Amino acid sequence: MTKLNIVILAAGVGKRMQSSLPKVLHPLAGMPLLLHIIKTVSSLMPHKICTVIGHGGEKIKQAIPMADLTWVVQEHQLGTGHAVMQAQSHLDPEGLTLILYGDVPLIKADTLKKLLDAVEDKHCALLTSTMENPSGYGRILRNAETGVITGIIEQKDASQEQQNICEINTGIMAIPNRYLHEWLSKINNKNAQGEYYLTDLIEIAASQGITVKSVQPDNFWEIMGVNNKTQLAELERIYQKEYANKLLDQGVTLMDPARIDVRGELTCGSDVTIDVDCIFEGIVKLGDGVHVSSHCILKNVIVAAGTQIAPCSVIEDTEIGASCKIGPFARIRPGTMLLDKVHIGNFVEVKNSHIAAGSKANHLSYIGDSEVGERVNIGAGTITCNYDGANKHRTIIEDDVFIGSDTQLVAPVRVSKGSTIGAGSTITKDTPEDALTLSRAKQVSVSDWKRPTKSKK
Ligand code: UD1
Ligand code: CA
Repeated sequence: MTKLNIVILAAGVGKRMQSSLPKVLHPLAGMPLLLHIIKTVSSLMPHKICTVIGHGGEKIKQAIPMADLTWVVQEHQLGTGHAVMQAQSHLDPEGLTLILYGDVPLIKADTLKKLLDAVEDKHCALLTSTMENPSGYGRILRNAETGVITGIIEQKDASQEQQNICEINTGIMAIPNRYLHEWLSKINNKNAQGEYYLTDLIEIAASQGITVKSVQPDNFWEIMGVNNKTQLAELERIYQKEYANKLLDQGVTLMDPARIDVRGELTCGSDVTIDVDCIFEGIVKLGDGVHVSSHCILKNVIVAAGTQIAPCSVIEDTEIGASCKIGPFARIRPGTMLLDKVHIGNFVEVKNSHIAAGSKANHLSYIGDSEVGERVNIGAGTITCNYDGANKHRTIIEDDVFIGSDTQLVAPVRVSKGSTIGAGSTITKDTPEDALTLSRAKQVSVSDWKRPTKSKK
């Protein structure tokens, strides 16, 4: 099999982003632009991936810490041809090089496969597209009679007549390495921009009688680049729309496909419903029949079948069992595991806790660093005091415990099986099984007490 080399050009300044963050690190669907491309090309099983960096190179390397990438530095941005020259020493003598841009994030692997297939070990292949307004792009020159590609002319070098050509160069091309190594030394910077144009390779190919094949992408957005925040926002919407369509195709009910954001991977079982304005980050898995109401944020969450998540719940790094009821306004923080039929109600915060089947905390509570057994009822306003100002301690609440409202459990503490805690208690010592424990000042009534009255001025 032909060895596949990838070169991603990402040395440009990206001035129009108006940001200190290098352009290719700006996130699209929660992931840096460059990483989208790296993930796509990785699926082609390349022998090597070289990324040409310049501006903000160190930041880019740090943000994308993948071991099997080759980073190539282009000190001065002297053009796309010059950029590929910097990677040349890393490219195999034989094989095939696929060149892409770091700021064109939505190119599909299937399109790239078509391009690679067109090479057949002897041709060059260009990804081209036809545009109503081709201004700014390099135009594809073809022989008027045969239709054979003879070169690419950049906008700034093009005659009036050439500027009328609507077929443009997307910048993505595949070239056999034996040609690439030979031809790179032949390009110069004698053009309107004084740059080494990669596109000059096409004219060289044609002059040597090498066929240049052209391939078109199925979707217009595959070749859209990001130069400013407007284009980034446009591509974000396109990405989200495509993702929503994919979910709809799988049978997920989206109350409004235009109002869902997936910044990672969302996997859904059958009969899942998602209401408007939810955000899914990282890896989220929703089981059969799960219902996520509006304005929820789920990050790295696994939810088992039949669980209902009410509006405005924020859940992170958590595993939720089947038939649970969560929210509205629940906050579930990392390290939490809820087993089946658990209820976590409004204004309840749970952190780094394990709550067993059938237990409920329905109102206004903080459960942190806790181990909660089965069928436990945690009354409104219960707080686990897990932090003493220096260290965190665990609270153990065993099966069938009933905790009255407004209780503080000062950790480390164990509430034993079947305990009942009277409302308003501050529990600092372990409680015995099946007993009522309470710590509460005796209630007194003062009969001869008078309410103060307003003094006259
Ligand atoms: C290039 C093509 C043009 C095509 C257009 C598509 C050339 C000469 N022209 O033009 O035919 O229609 O893309 O968008 O190739 N880069 C480097 N180092 C450099 C210069 C650029 O790494 O020295 C990178 C940029 O970061 C960017 C990509 O190459 O990712 C394209 O550069 P850009 O300056 O945008 O190319 P265009 O002039 O638009
Ligand atoms: Ca340019």
